[in-house]
This record gives sequence, structure tokens and C-alpha cells, in this order.
Amino acid sequence: MINFKNKIAEVIADELSADITEIKKNIEKPKDTNMGDYAFPCFVLAKALKKAPNVIAEELKGKIEQNEAFKQYVSNVSSINGFLNFTVNKETITKDIIDTFSNDEESFCKSNVGKNKTVLVEYSSPNIAKEFHIGHLKNTIIGHCLYNVYQALGYKTFGLNHLGDYGTQFGKLIEGYKKWGNEYDFSVNPIEKMADLYVRISQLSSEDEQVLEACRENFRLLENGDEFCTEIWKKFKDLSLIEFNEIYDILGVHFDSMIGEAFYSDKMQEIMDALEKNGKVIESQGAKVVDLSDQGIDTPCIIQKTNGSSIYATRDLAAILYRARTYDFDKCLYVVGIEQGLHFKQVFAVARYLGIDEKYTNGLEHVSYGMIRLPEGKMSSRKGNFVTARSLLKETIDSVLEIMKDRDINDKEKIAKQIAIGAIVFNNLSENRVKDSVFDLNQALNFNGETGPYLQYMCVRTKSVLKKANYVIDPNIDIDKIQDENSNQIINLLYKFEDTLKTVADKNEPSILARYLIELAQAFGSFYNNNQILCEDERTSKSRLYLTYMVKTVLENGLQIMGIEVPEEM
Ligand code: ARG
Repeated sequence: MINFKNKIAEVIADELSADITEIKKNIEKPKDTNMGDYAFPCFVLAKALKKAPNVIAEELKGKIEQNEAFKQYVSNVSSINGFLNFTVNKETITKDIIDTFSNDEESFCKSNVGKNKTVLVEYSSPNIAKEFHIGHLKNTIIGHCLYNVYQALGYKTFGLNHLGDYGTQFGKLIEGYKKWGNEYDFSVNPIEKMADLYVRISQLSSEDEQVLEACRENFRLLENGDEFCTEIWKKFKDLSLIEFNEIYDILGVHFDSMIGEAFYSDKMQEIMDALEKNGKVIESQGAKVVDLSDQGIDTPCIIQKTNGSSIYATRDLAAILYRARTYDFDKCLYVVGIEQGLHFKQVFAVARYLGIDEKYTNGLEHVSYGMIRLPEGKMSSRKGNFVTARSLLKETIDSVLEIMKDRDINDKEKIAKQIAIGAIVFNNLSENRVKDSVFDLNQALNFNGETGPYLQYMCVRTKSVLKKANYVIDPNIDIDKIQDENSNQIINLLYKFEDTLKTVADKNEPSILARYLIELAQAFGSFYNNNQILCEDERTSKSRLYLTYMVKTVLENGLQIMGIEVPEEM
């Protein structure tokens, strides 16, 4: 595709004999698109040229307007308040989009900026034997979307699920199981039963010192590979995974690795040794800690407890070392709640003392996100603000079925599921990830709002227009038939798709893609309302159908990247 920004930078740099990269850095997109497609703030030159910005803008405008060859890229230059504004030549961009798209539509929706680079995206990572709640759902949805974005950008991408399958609580669960395991049928709702077991044993061990000691002993045995304890622990893990995998299946989410924390239990000595060797370990009240004040972090990182057992942070350090060796990664993203901010700051800082290549420590990044909750009093089955993913999924699917009950649609169950997931996924991706968010079922299911179902609906509409026309793909169209304002808006958005994906990856911010897809769907909505796509003039129909086909393709791809399926009908 033509790089219009480059062309503009070139022409300005030429006129001023200035450095093109400097100029390009300052070119921006005006917030108000009526001002043009690109803007250059001339005040950045004021000092060097010893002239007022508006004078520079006027002079440059005059010179650029003399440049006949440049008119194929930019049809209008204006000077407003010291800004030079550029409007891209509509015919050129339309032709360019159609050429690029028709040449290879698959690569139109992709990029190769990530070629030869590896990104690890760690996401979901629930604790086993505990409920999978809506916070995990948000995490999983953000992580899966980022995974897809990096993949579309050509990175070698690995999705990792760092299961929380380790810790002293398993000593308790094992004790509970020994005492009352035979009272439960773990084949139905296993997590609920394990949670119940945990509450019971916690209660008892808080009253009875002997029971508490037995729990501690179980954990010690587990750490030392005791066969019986390991077997029970494994049972808890398998039962939890049956439940988690069901949710992952519903969401269409997959992981390339499901290595849990327990995997690192025998890999921590190496971490302790490396830190000792580098003189970083300090004894503090019987525990071992690493001081991080050199790196501007006031709280030291505890890496070994008073009783000698390892902790969460140490397992994360062992995981960094393992991942560096296994994947040789360029980036390793941790999609984890914002409340673990300090933990990751500490862990990433300690990792700098392990003696591994800076490439790895520089590539570590905590992709945090805010809390999600439901509006007050909205769901029947919740305790406090705690809602399981399963109940949210079920309630949402039921609501969609209710909305669709009078519609004559094949395979309602399947479509209701797709729409419900579309609603939930979009809701979790549509806002800036660090903001706390609310899942309001009615709002998320509004087919006319800025929602997942709206995007699905618009995509289904593009498909039905094409189907009705018995459309056969043919890029041999007349550019001048799609020069109206709505078509032009669509073309400009299609031009931005690849850039949008790149920005999502730069900021690890899926909401940018969500916003983009809404804009594209809305642009198509206006186009559809203002134009008869199938009309009397055959050449016009053909051109409009091709535009529709391009929108369909990009919407489908964008939705797939978000993790949303497009139903057959709606
Ligand atoms: N299992 C942890 C929890 O539920 C989250 C793990 C996050 N990932 C990590 N590498 N520490 O709180």
C-alpha cells in the first residue's frame, strides 16, 4: 500500500532540505477528520526557521501546491493556525486499496512486522480447585485477543497458561480429602465440591492445632514427591482442568502450554544459587530477600520464606529462566490483574540479577487490567460480587434465546451461544483494559449499540447482501462509482486496518481494535442506508458489491482476532 505519511514527509523535507525522519515523527492524524487526513504542526520548525508557525505553514502550502506530481497523493493542502493539513487523494487511495486487496486478500488482513520474532502471551492462569470467575473470563479474553493480534502480525506466538497448582493450600485440601473425600461425588460440579472441602478443613484446622500440623505435613510430603499426596493433588488438578477446559472450549480459546507453578518446584535452587552468586540475597528476619532499592523499588522481594519453602515470586523467576531457554522470546507478556503490579515490578527487577541476557529481561511486561463487576443486584446466583464464568455464560445465552424466541432461525442454540459470547467478549475488550468495567447484560446485548452483537449483525448483513446478489468476486470495478462520502470513509478505514493491529500490539490494548471495528461497521451502516447497493446501473452495483465484500472480509477477520464468531444468520 502507498505510505501517504511518508509521501507527505518527503515533500516537506524536500522543500526545507530537512531530515525526513524528524518531519515524519511530527506528522499526526487530526482528531477532526474534516481538517484532513494528516497534519503537520509547523511550530516545531519555528525556532530553527525563526518564523511564526502560520507564516511557515502559508509558505509551505504555496510551494507544495506548485508540486504537480504530489497531487496524485494529496488533493488538498490547507494552512490553519500554524498547522498544514493534508487531504489524501480519494481516487488514489481507493485504487490502492482495491489493488492491494485484490492482489492478496489474505495478506491484506495480516502483516509481517513480527517476522522472526517470538512473543509469549501468558494468560488465564487460574488457581486450581477454585471457581473460575468473571475476572478470569476478562483475563482470558484479553490474553486470547492479544495472542491473535501478534499472530496476525506475523510473530511466532505462544499462549501460556501458568496454572496456579501449587501452594500450602493443597496441604489442607489433601487433609480434607483424607477425612471426607468419600462423602463427595466429584464427577459433578467438582470445583464446588473442592471449594466446600476447603472451607470445612480450614474451619477445622483453625480450631484444632493438630489438624493444622497434619495439613502442613501434607504439603511437606507433596513437595518431597510423596506418592499418595501427589496422587490426590493430581486428582484435584485433573478435575479442575475438566471444568476450565470446558470454559476454554466454549470461548474457543487455546493454549500452547499449560505448565503450572508446580512444574517449577524443583527448578528454584538454580534461582537461589544464581542470586547468591551475584551477592543479591539478604537474610531478613529469617527469610531470604533481594533488595531492589537500586532499581527504585522500596519493597524488597521475598524469595524464600522463614521455613525454607519457596514462594510465588520464586516460581515466577524460575519460569522466566525456563521460558528464556525454551522459547528464546523477544517479548513475554503477563496478562494479570492490576493488583499484582508490585509483584511483577519486583519479579522483573530480580530477574535482572539472574545473569540472563538483557534481551529477555527487557521483554518482560505486565499487561494489567482492571476489575470487572456486574451492576448491583443483577445476577441471582452470585455471592457478594462473586460470579462464576459459567453462570454468566448461561445467563447470557438464556437472555439471547429469550430475545430470539419468536424468530424463525435455524440452529438457534448455536447462534445464541455465538451471540452471547460475542456480547461478553466485546464487552471485555471495548474499554481501556486498565479501567474497571461493568458487565451490563442488557447493554451488552443491544443489537444497535456499540456491542459485539452489533458487529456480528453488521457482518451478517454484508454477507446477506452478497448472497442476495449471488455475488462472484470481481475486483474489476469503476473507482468513480465509489467516490461518495460513505464509500470514502470505508476506504479510509480499510487503509487503517493493518496500522490498527500494530497499534494494538504496541500498547497491548485490544480496545483500539474494538473501536476500529465499530467505526467500520458504522461506516458500512451509513453506506448501506444511503445507497442502493443492488441498483439499476450494473457497473455501480458491481463496485458497491466489491466494497461490501472488502468490508465483510475485514470485519470477519477483525472479529476472529477478537475471538468472536460470525453467525450464519441473526
Ligand atoms: N494464579 C495466579 C492467581 O490466580 C495468577 C498467576 C499470574 N501469573 C504469574 N506468572 N504469576 O492469582
